[in-house]
Amino acid sequence: MSIESSQSLGTGLGEDHVTGLFAAVQRLQNEHAYILELLEEMEVQAVQIGKASTTAQDWSRLQHLRLWTIGVMQELEAHAKWEDGVLLPFLVSYFHLQESPSLAPSLWMMEKEHELAVEYVECFMREFHKLRPASSRERMWKTASLLLQACYILKSHIEKEEKLVFPLVEQVLTDVDYLFL
Ligand SMILES: [Fe+2]
Ligand SMILES: [Fe+2]
Repeated sequence: MSIESSQSLGTGLGEDHVTGLFAAVQRLQNEHAYILELLEEMEVQAVQIGKASTTAQDWSRLQHLRLWTIGVMQELEAHAKWEDGVLLPFLVSYFHLQESPSLAPSLWMMEKEHELAVEYVECFMREFHKLRPASSRERMWKTASLLLQACYILKSHIEKEEKLVFPLVEQVLTDVDYLFL
C-alpha cells in the first residue's frame, strides 16, 4: 500500500501497513524540508524590505514577496491537508486504541499554532493592500515583518511536529516488531 494510492492509513498493522507508514514518515520529512527551504527564502526576502536604494525598488520587492508568500501558503496548505487527513488520524486512532495518554492537547496546540501563522499572513495581505508605491519605507518594512512572525511560528511548528510524530511512529514500529517476531 503506498500512501499515494490510499486515502487513509487505516488502523491495522499488516506488512503493507508498515510500508505505508514508512512512506508517510518519508513524505513528512521531505515536505518539511521543502517547506523550510521556502520559509528561509521568505525570511531572506522579508528582511530586505526597506533596505533597497529606492522606494520603488522596495515596492517591487514587496510585490515579489507577496507572490512568493502565496506560493508558500499553497504548499503549506496541501501539506497540512495530507497531515491532518491521513497521518495524524492514524496516529490518534492507533494510540487511542492502545489507551495511551491522549494526544489531543498537543495536537490542539499545534493546530492553534498553524492558525496563528495563517493569521499573520492574512494580516500581511490586508496591510499590503493598503500600501501604495509611494507609501513610506517604514510601513513597507512593518508590513513585511508580519511575515517574519509567521515564518518564526511555522519553523517552530515543524520542529515540534517532528518531535511529536517521530517517537510515535517508532512506537508503532516497535509494536509491529513484537507482532511479527
Ligand atoms: Fe502541521
Ligand atoms: Fe507538518
